[in-house]
Amino acid sequence: MAVGLQRISMSANLLHRTIVSAMPLVPQPIVWRFSRRYIAGTHLEDAYETVRKLNAEGSTGTIDVLGEDSTREEQVEAALELYFAALDGIAADSLGTGISVKLSELGLRYDMARCEAATEALLTAAEKHGIFVRIDMEDSTTTDATLAIYGKSREKFDRVGVAIQSCLRRSEDDVRQLLDEGQTDVRLCKGIYIEPEEISYRDADDIRDSYNRILDMLLADDTARVGIATHDPLLVNYAVDALTRFGVDRDRYEVQMLLGVAGPLRRKLLAEGHDVRVYVPFGELWYHYSMRRLRENPHMVGHILKNLFASH
Ligand code: FDA
Repeated sequence: MAVGLQRISMSANLLHRTIVSAMPLVPQPIVWRFSRRYIAGTHLEDAYETVRKLNAEGSTGTIDVLGEDSTREEQVEAALELYFAALDGIAADSLGTGISVKLSELGLRYDMARCEAATEALLTAAEKHGIFVRIDMEDSTTTDATLAIYGKSREKFDRVGVAIQSCLRRSEDDVRQLLDEGQTDVRLCKGIYIEPEEISYRDADDIRDSYNRILDMLLADDTARVGIATHDPLLVNYAVDALTRFGVDRDRYEVQMLLGVAGPLRRKLLAEGHDVRVYVPFGELWYHYSMRRLRENPHMVGHILKNLFASH
């Protein structure tokens, strides 16, 4: 039986790898077809429109300007300009949304000092409008630098938080340190990047156990705010129980989901009285983003196949 299951899993992995390596041959309009549900569109107005719809159903948003791994100053400036425009538009229209940002988009990989300055400029603009900024967490080569910039940022700004990945073995210690340093705001997710085995959990249950341990740590500290970012029904059920167990006030947490994923679960949680925020990525760089995510996490292929078949 175990050998049979292993064979099925090996063939599934082979299928995933084959599809992933064939993806660059797929015409962009077809890639767009499966990416479309996860991305608001290519323009800022598309992101606003998506947020308006989410607000109408009772959810809030977090708008992400697609882009990562900037290698030149012009790319950092272009990203900042789009973020500034997004902040102005959000404020002008009183939209119920924050923003999310990847620090590699602001130059983290090529110039740490530039990235710090760009982050400060973004946070200053967001603070002016009272808009919250979430710093996404990228692959493990960026974790130390991301946490360092988050640490400095929260000394100066109130409306800033960071993401933590439960798949990383270090994350419990990182969260302990964040809590020791004072009031913190964490989006807790499993982590999308495939990481080396020495530093990450691979088994789905180990990743869930780590998630639940970290969630407990965050909920037990009443100075912390937490974004429970998952679509996994097991984690959602655990979280709902834990919120009652710790007697967590509504202003200390929210559930967070990705655009286009788990709509029914999102609406159920809303109906039960939980605050829900949806990640709304948009931008011209959608193709790069979709392909990168696909390469990083072959499990996405399963979702894509499901979507393709479901749309017929
Ligand atoms: P899991 O992958 O087990 O998914 C549970 C179920 O949800 C699946 O069975 C499927 O039904 C559905 N599902 C999940 N993803 C889907 C998809 N793409 N399409 C269709 N169905 C899907 N990661 C990171 O490394 N850094 C970050 O900063 C963030 N930020 C972030 C913000 C928000 C708001 C969310 C929800 C997620 C992230 N992530 C992230 C991604 C996160 O780490 C993780 O990869 C995904 O959320 C999927 O993990 P789940 O916990 O949903 O479990």
